[in-house]
Amino acid sequence: LQEEDTNLAAGRFIGVGVGPGDPELLTLKAVRTLASADVVIAPRTEKRGDSIALSIAKPHMNTGVEILELVFPMVYHPGELSDAWEANRSIIEARLKAGQTVVFLTLGDPMFYSTYIYVFELLKNSGYTIETIPGVTAFCAIASHHGVPIVEGDDVLSVVPATIRAEKLERILAVSDRLVLMKVSRNFSDLSQQLQRHGFAENALMVSKCGHPEEMVHEDIMKVKPEDVTYLSTILARKSKTSSAASA
Ligand SMILES: C[S@@+](CC[C@H](N)C(=O)[O-])C[C@H]1O[C@@H](n2cnc3c(N)ncnc32)[C@H](O)[C@@H]1O
Repeated sequence: LQEEDTNLAAGRFIGVGVGPGDPELLTLKAVRTLASADVVIAPRTEKRGDSIALSIAKPHMNTGVEILELVFPMVYHPGELSDAWEANRSIIEARLKAGQTVVFLTLGDPMFYSTYIYVFELLKNSGYTIETIPGVTAFCAIASHHGVPIVEGDDVLSVVPATIRAEKLERILAVSDRLVLMKVSRNFSDLSQQLQRHGFAENALMVSKCGHPEEMVHEDIMKVKPEDVTYLSTILARKSKTSSAASA
């Protein structure tokens, strides 16, 4: 029992935010942690495609480090994680039990719309040390790179996953001065119409794959073809002061 207790104390699980794309946008702490990892987990929601978080983190990782590309199916009901999640939990706990430092990569910030949040919930009472290292979110990087303030003065900002119901979005658009719209690829044409009606389309900037070599910038969202909008796209928008919607 004593030996088990010692092992339990030694393993460390660390969620690391790798930022949106540029490998220079990691914190010093993230870089130091990656360099000391025994195992690096690159999560995916499905089997195909390369892990973008892994490609961002790679320049900071040691060549001998164990890399586990694990599939974490999309969570629809946080209380009911699937067998794949339980299998992943066992894989992680085996490494922690062996006293290893396990790093879990997250695009942007770990506590901001990410798979990491569910992994954190799953492990937080496991007895192992858990630490989370923040990362630069895509919307912060877009704002700085493209000279678009996120909020000023007493502006009210809403951060909205564009996958929410249209009626809910309608209410948010009515009361917000500024918007950060995430996950905009689904229903893009309805979304852009809604933004226009509420006076946001004139001052909206959409950036896809911010910080990646293939970054795309759209300054007029009404001209964007919905089929060209990729998953890694974010819109920053400001309500036009002259719009009739502004006084609503
Ligand atoms: C599941 S959320 C992940 C958010 C991430 N944890 C963060 O802090 O930015 C995925 C959404 O983040 C945004 N996103 C992530 N990386 C991006 C990038 N490089 N460029 C533009 N948008 C990005 C997009 O809106 C995408 O639909």
